[in-house]
Amino acid sequence: MDQIAIVGGVPLVGEIPISGAKNSAIKLMTASLLTDEPLRLTNMPRLADTRFLGKLLRRLGAELTESTGPNGPQTLLHTPEIVSAFAPYDLVRQMRASFNVLGPLLARTGHAKVSLPGGCAIGARPVDLHLKALEALGAHIDLNEGYVYAQAPRGLRGATIAFPFVSVGATEHAMLAAVLAQGETVLLNAAREPEMVDLADCLNAMGAKVEGAGTSTIRIVGVSRLHGAVHSVTPDRIETGTYALAAAMAGGEVRLTQTRADLVESLLLKMEAAGVEVGRGVDSVTIRRDGGRLRAVDVETDPFPGFATDLQAQFMALMTTADGVSVVRETIFENRFMHVPELARLGADITVSGGEARIRGVEHLQGAPVMATDLRASVGLVIAALAARGETVVNRVYHLDRGFERLEEKLSACGARVRRLTGTEGGGD
Ligand code: EPZ
Repeated sequence: MDQIAIVGGVPLVGEIPISGAKNSAIKLMTASLLTDEPLRLTNMPRLADTRFLGKLLRRLGAELTESTGPNGPQTLLHTPEIVSAFAPYDLVRQMRASFNVLGPLLARTGHAKVSLPGGCAIGARPVDLHLKALEALGAHIDLNEGYVYAQAPRGLRGATIAFPFVSVGATEHAMLAAVLAQGETVLLNAAREPEMVDLADCLNAMGAKVEGAGTSTIRIVGVSRLHGAVHSVTPDRIETGTYALAAAMAGGEVRLTQTRADLVESLLLKMEAAGVEVGRGVDSVTIRRDGGRLRAVDVETDPFPGFATDLQAQFMALMTTADGVSVVRETIFENRFMHVPELARLGADITVSGGEARIRGVEHLQGAPVMATDLRASVGLVIAALAARGETVVNRVYHLDRGFERLEEKLSACGARVRRLTGTEGGGD
């Protein structure tokens, strides 16, 4: 397995182009199952997660063609017919968002058998809201031996669905199923993440009638069929926030291009409160830090437009060397502090109690071998390493590869001393 070695203490100076959003791209890929015509997704990130999903979509009957277009990497997805409406455990286990093929399969063919995704490193992550939404749309659902058996032989029908709390995946799933349902669907207390807007824009380009995405009420008038379209994946807000935090941690000046400040405004405000200079361009964000210690700032994770849980580990890394005590509260997932013991290996002073971490800023971190536990936690370790004295070696970087495209290349281009050690990691679990 690969490792990433980072020698800290080098300021970052330069530009980092932001890729298309992983968490949008994978839902847009599943949308391609809704039509027998080709969907071309541009600004596609090339990641382990998009590859995993591609493997599943091929089994279901999709043809995928990757190429480089005038606007960078693109993927053409074409499913003339669904050859199998079965998503096996092996493939769903590798990436839980694969579960979202259930809605499109059901909407297009009237039946599907999809493995339950199971828990993961950050929490139990049930899918009850997804299943209730599909039932509200008229699907008959049975759970047996770890599989969801869903049937809607006469098609889905529109309904009003009030989510008891905000769920990104369940909102997207309901949208994906409702576009081909008969009549009107109203989603109340819907997620407002930019990925909702991106998915709705793509579905509308395919002929769907979705209104209100990005607000907490989404209205969908079902249509009888969707057609092909071309859609550009929205910039990755988590990648944007991650490199913003990397630049703040290492110091220097970095311009993040092909992205927008409004995608990460709640983070940028916290960074400014900590003493980081932020410049907001039309499609870029500039981060500057001139040395001197940052101030400790508290954050609490919340659904969009609140502070993203997917940036919590990275922000905590920044706070490890801030002046004072900061409190980070995690409200979305119950087990998302797995990075804390690893940050402690670098010399961070953090205590966790329930969903709250107290970070007492230290003068400096010291490089050490550490282990990645999940995607965002691992990049939090990379950020900490950028400011640590000496070398940090991050193990299990396959987590990073799931969601960060060419991370070493993007950081090295700004002067960071980062290199990948291929196939070097020894030992097992
Ligand atoms: C999405 O997960 C993202 N994943 C996550 O990013 C992100 O952390 C999360 O949204 C919150 O922003 C993808 O888009 C692929 P939720 P999702 O449904 O949709 C509970 C990353 O690192 N819940 O909004 O699974 C759930 O357990 C990943 O890229 C239920 O109880 O998140 C959680 O506590 C990690 N029942 C809360 O709701 C359900 O049926 C919010 O989860 C669904 C969710």
